[in-house]
Amino acid sequence: MVSEHAAQVLVASNRGPVTYTLEENGELTAKRGGGGLVSGLSAIGDDADALWVCAALGDGDREAVRRGVGEPGVRMLDIDPQVHADAYNGIANSVLWFVHHMLYQTPLEPAFGPEFRAQWASYETYNRAFAEALAESAAAGAAVLVQDYHLALVPGMLRELRPDLRIGHFSHTPWAPVDYFRMLPDDVAEQLLRGILGADRAAFLTGRWADAFTECCVAVLGGTTGTRIGVHGLGADADFLRERSRRADVEERLVALREQIGGSGDRKVIVRVDRTELSKNIVRGLLAYRELLESRPEWRERVVHVAFAYPSRQDLSVYRDYTAEVQRVADEINSRFGVEGWTPVVLHVKDDFARSLAAYRLADVALVNPIRDGMNLVAKEVPVVSDEGCALVLSREAGAYEELGEDAIVVNPYDVTGTAAALHAALTMPLEERAERTKRLAAAATALPPAQWFLDQLRALG
Ligand code: F6P
Repeated sequence: MVSEHAAQVLVASNRGPVTYTLEENGELTAKRGGGGLVSGLSAIGDDADALWVCAALGDGDREAVRRGVGEPGVRMLDIDPQVHADAYNGIANSVLWFVHHMLYQTPLEPAFGPEFRAQWASYETYNRAFAEALAESAAAGAAVLVQDYHLALVPGMLRELRPDLRIGHFSHTPWAPVDYFRMLPDDVAEQLLRGILGADRAAFLTGRWADAFTECCVAVLGGTTGTRIGVHGLGADADFLRERSRRADVEERLVALREQIGGSGDRKVIVRVDRTELSKNIVRGLLAYRELLESRPEWRERVVHVAFAYPSRQDLSVYRDYTAEVQRVADEINSRFGVEGWTPVVLHVKDDFARSLAAYRLADVALVNPIRDGMNLVAKEVPVVSDEGCALVLSREAGAYEELGEDAIVVNPYDVTGTAAALHAALTMPLEERAERTKRLAAAATALPPAQWFLDQLRALG
């Protein structure tokens, strides 16, 4: 049944724009998030009949749903916690994320047995809950924009329930090469592709990921069955970043960071800012820095690596282990090379956006070396915010490489020695060249701001 106040534009994603925390006194506090979809939806205006359908993620969210607390324009689904955990941790993050980012250690994994099959059933249930909620809330002929690998089955399910809707699917991750994708059991590979092809349009962050998807469709299904394929390369939000990065809290963080970096202001700074994802390649980044200090001792005491590695997906033991390894290697570098007055690696693990912006501002070099990444917005944000220009060391496996490759120093993310050499080249880049490159990087990085990115997708749906 379609509800009375049906929406004209709907967005569906696992993580929504707001999270609730249940305080000790029993009150619920709401925290709103940012990102491309939030600015996109606000760009279509408050009057538009828009609805964001998302999952309740924690106890606070679930309590909010039960109490009927909510933000206008947001519908949170209280899906059974075990079903959600299987779908999100089990399938989305431990299988689909691994496939698209090519993260398996293949001699032993993946091994798709009964546990996988049980989790897959939950993934179907979770996707069906979204499809049903969307079918219920969408006005006749409404546009529905389904996000990411969590919800790959939704377009197909929704198409069956509501053939009148215009459905788009957007992948924020890379798409796996065909041979890697076909590690999935055949029926599951087929279901995933058919699910996305239930959309009128399937869109990706770069041409490379779009082509990989098409190749999978051709190999597994014989074609893309008339679904249109699109590319929208999400860019950085220049206006927001420039204003936000000059506020007082960022200035305070700048002072504190400069103190931690030490020296008399003449030390060079290599910055990285990431969520601690397995795909971000933080450990190899540290190993490259260690090799730089080892092979070019002239850099000792003259450079500091400021590394922010913020927590992510800590329910998964493999993420916890990786986080510990990042800390271990950073500590090892500090105890091996550190001397009174110089800490070679300044590692922070507590998420602090203002401090990230401060680090962007003072960076001489930004290190963005993911194993594989849908886009990587850090690579796009640093040149926009940088005070005096910053050399970008960029993995050729990041989506951002397509737009920024020309003015970056490009690395193979597995090549630690090559990355050490790239860091040296970046540190020694003449300041004038660095500033020129930064200007061009910033222009390329802001070509498609988030609101436009969203509106383009909407328009392309017809
Ligand atoms: O960066 C890729 C991405 O898929 C984003 O689209 C999405 O917000 C995020 O990863 C999912 O992360 P989490 O598991 O923390 O919700």
